Amino acid sequence: MAVLKRLFIVLGLVTVPLLLGLLFTYDVLKIEWISFMEIQPSFNAQEDPLPLPPRSIPVQGAAYVPELGAPVNPLVADEASLARGKEQYEINCQICHGANADGKGPFAVYLRTRPPVSLLEGNALTGSDGAMFLTITNGIEGAMPSLKENLPEPNMRWDIVNYIRSLQGK
Ligand code: HEC
Repeated sequence: MAVLKRLFIVLGLVTVPLLLGLLFTYDVLKIEWISFMEIQPSFNAQEDPLPLPPRSIPVQGAAYVPELGAPVNPLVADEASLARGKEQYEINCQICHGANADGKGPFAVYLRTRPPVSLLEGNALTGSDGAMFLTITNGIEGAMPSLKENLPEPNMRWDIVNYIRSLQGK
């Protein structure tokens, strides 16, 4: 009998705190804990990314330093660069600018107010590599999206510039 009694006491000591704990776990008894999650500097869906902290330096080197003019193409247009450029062009640009860069991509018909232009003539032909790089990086307000997030490595954009030059026959 004494053994049974001890067993009940031990069981009670274990289960009572457990049940009490479960009451809180399942919010039967609710306590409003102080939480700091809502006052952190997070940003909401659809909000622009937070600006970079002042004086921070991008790890791949500055893509564009204001006042230094358009950047200079650091990549040689060898076969490997053209192959990478073609692949990325087909993913990111072809839908608007067309497979041979004539501005007649499948999505172009839906962009009526400012349709994509041919990259075989005009600014794209006469402008510098750096100017085209900046257009890809920053997009064109109200017409073309900025593609720097799709092409995070600057060299991905230079590969595309090289590929477009090859389409232009340069
Ligand atoms: C959503 C469609 C769209 C996509 C995707 C797009 N563009 Fe454009 N792009 C445009 C439009 C529209 C214009 C013309 C803007 C205007 O009216 O001046 C343009 C203009 C340009 C120009 C300037 C041409 C000039 O003569 O001034 C360049 C260079 C260019 N795009 C390159 C690219 C490259 C490279 C890519 C892929 C990395 C790309 N675009 C992806 C829509 C697009």
